Amino acid sequence: MNAPLPLHDAPAQTAPSVNALPDDGPAKISARNVSVFYGAKRAIDDVSIDVPNDYVTAFIGPSGCGKSTFLRSLNRMNDTIAGAHVEGEILLDGQDIYRSGMDVVQLRARVGMVFQKPNPFPKSIYENIAYGPRIHGLTTSKSELDGIVESSLQRAGLWDEVKDRLADSGTALSGGQQQRLCIARAIAVDPEVILMDEPCSALDPIATARIEELIDELRGRYAIVIVTHSMQQAARVSQRTAFFHMGKIVEYGTTSDIFTNPREERTKDYITGRYG
Ligand SMILES: Nc1ncnc2c1ncn2[C@@H]1O[C@H](COP(=O)(O)OP(=O)(O)O)[C@@H](O)[C@H]1O
Ligand SMILES: [Mg+2]
Repeated sequence: MNAPLPLHDAPAQTAPSVNALPDDGPAKISARNVSVFYGAKRAIDDVSIDVPNDYVTAFIGPSGCGKSTFLRSLNRMNDTIAGAHVEGEILLDGQDIYRSGMDVVQLRARVGMVFQKPNPFPKSIYENIAYGPRIHGLTTSKSELDGIVESSLQRAGLWDEVKDRLADSGTALSGGQQQRLCIARAIAVDPEVILMDEPCSALDPIATARIEELIDELRGRYAIVIVTHSMQQAARVSQRTAFFHMGKIVEYGTTSDIFTNPREERTKDYITGRYG
């Protein structure tokens, strides 16, 4: 265990990349030898990966291989699961997010998350967005907060649909709108990374297409990691893909290499539909 360190004093660490491709730039997130356990059961087994800043990274692999478990370890969401524990190291901009003294609420603002099932608060559309900036002290005035609400909804592609009904409940929106509201809520606290766990699996094809367009628009502004069981979706929205199998990353590469020219037999089997 490290001694408690204030955020700004934590030493940035530089380790050689395990997977960076020539265009990847410095890693936004580096996981090193990460294992995740539920009680005695090991769900993630010694995974190391660098997640680049400027691309969308897809995590693919058969159900139960550990994609959600690993994704949750990237913003310490597994902390909320009784019996779960994480070993190894996860660095955000070179700083260990599991060090003692880490402010987890602050971390989850920097590394936001969007879930499979849209989960707006049972509050107004306005409040869904305003809540985070308010508790994080990002604004001092009502007009500033109004501005954040508007720009977050704009960026999530929802503003035009809701600008005349900001007082309506977030839960009254359609599923696709609710998911964009959740993305706007993540954006409102000015995150650096957005983690998405099968964000379209509860949506119809039109709402799915809208979210996929949105992910493409957000690329470059935020590091984005998306778990998807749809290989078509991974091919459409991501530039980097990690293929998980039985708690390990079998292969990482450009999305086009993974889908058209995989090196590993297990990747080949998965993308050709032999299992999964
Ligand atoms: N809260 C939990 N408690 C116990 N085991 C879990 C829990 N969540 C997931 N698991 C187990 O961990 C493994 C990986 O699950 P998960 O990360 O959900 O996989 P994926 O997202 O790839 O479908 C599975 O064997 C699953 O049953
Ligand atoms: Mg999952």
